[in-house]
Amino acid sequence: MILVTSANGNQGKRLIPKLLGAGHRVRACVRTEASARALRGQGVQQVLVGDLAEPAFIAEAVRGVASLYHIGPTLHRDERAMGFAMMDAARVAGVEHFVFSSVLHAITTDLIQHEIKRDLEEHLLSSGMAFTILQPANYMLPHRLSSVFEDGVFRLSWSLDRRQSMVDLDDVTDVAARVLAEPERHAAATYELAAPGHFAGHDIGRVLTEVLGRDIRVERIDAEAFVRARMGHADPDALAYQLRMIRAIEARYSSHDFVGNSNVLTWLLGRTPITFEAFVRREAAGLDASRR
Ligand SMILES: NC(=O)c1ccc[n+]([C@@H]2O[C@H](COP(=O)([O-])OP(=O)(O)OC[C@H]3O[C@@H](n4cnc5c(N)ncnc54)[C@H](OP(=O)(O)O)[C@@H]3O)[C@@H](O)[C@H]2O)c1
Repeated sequence: MILVTSANGNQGKRLIPKLLGAGHRVRACVRTEASARALRGQGVQQVLVGDLAEPAFIAEAVRGVASLYHIGPTLHRDERAMGFAMMDAARVAGVEHFVFSSVLHAITTDLIQHEIKRDLEEHLLSSGMAFTILQPANYMLPHRLSSVFEDGVFRLSWSLDRRQSMVDLDDVTDVAARVLAEPERHAAATYELAAPGHFAGHDIGRVLTEVLGRDIRVERIDAEAFVRARMGHADPDALAYQLRMIRAIEARYSSHDFVGNSNVLTWLLGRTPITFEAFVRREAAGLDASRR
């Protein structure tokens, strides 16, 4: 039995069919009944609905699992506590292989979500459990292309001149599935997961224009205003946390590149990773097919 947390999120949605297809039994943790229904519909054997911030829920989640894949929900203010509790509970429950979805350059402590993962990586290394750490670069997220397809604009909330590495979620979850299937081969490994190429906002615009065959503009947006508009009615603590995160992201990514190397991902996949160009082509083809 393999436990997957944040199971109906960006990675989970893609990973779970791969685990089921390979014949694993899966226990999935989600927050809402809607996600639970979707996962049961896909054939997940056990779906637990609850809050990863609750120690009792975590204790129930880890009971009887051999391996687990822990993903902290995006920009969640309890991400650190969730990770610590998950690792401690897994050790007590005798989990044999703890796979942690971290981030590229977790040592970059001026990014809050990286500092949290740095602390969690250290906790895992010190736990005595067999572990594997995956460090994905920025996800290539299909929904980030909606404004491109609809309005011809790609939006970024940091300097358009700073370069970044990206990675396709199919590649990340192919690696996660392989690592979970072969614990001994991947024990004690930390893998940086980045596709080839380093892209500034201007490069993204150029690729989008070339692949789609029409002019795509890249626009820098005010992330703080975006968060305030989206979360205006959230509780003040949650809003304050999101604003702190978003300011740190904007400051770091506007003053430094965020770049990795694709060698490790190429070796793990046994093929060239999916490039940003290929990602855009695939998403555009999917859109065309859905309109026919
Ligand atoms: N975005 C990037 O470019 C990037 C790059 C590298 C690393 N990362 C890291 O990757 C992680 C996020 O991965 P992801 O995007 O695959 O996950 P995600 O989409 O944020 O995960 C969402 C899932 O988490 C569940 N969830 C949310 N809050 C929960 C809670 N309190 N208790 C239990 N479940 C909860 C949701 O349940 P429901 O479906 O029921 O709502 C949903 O299934 C973050 O740690 C992020 O820092 C992100």
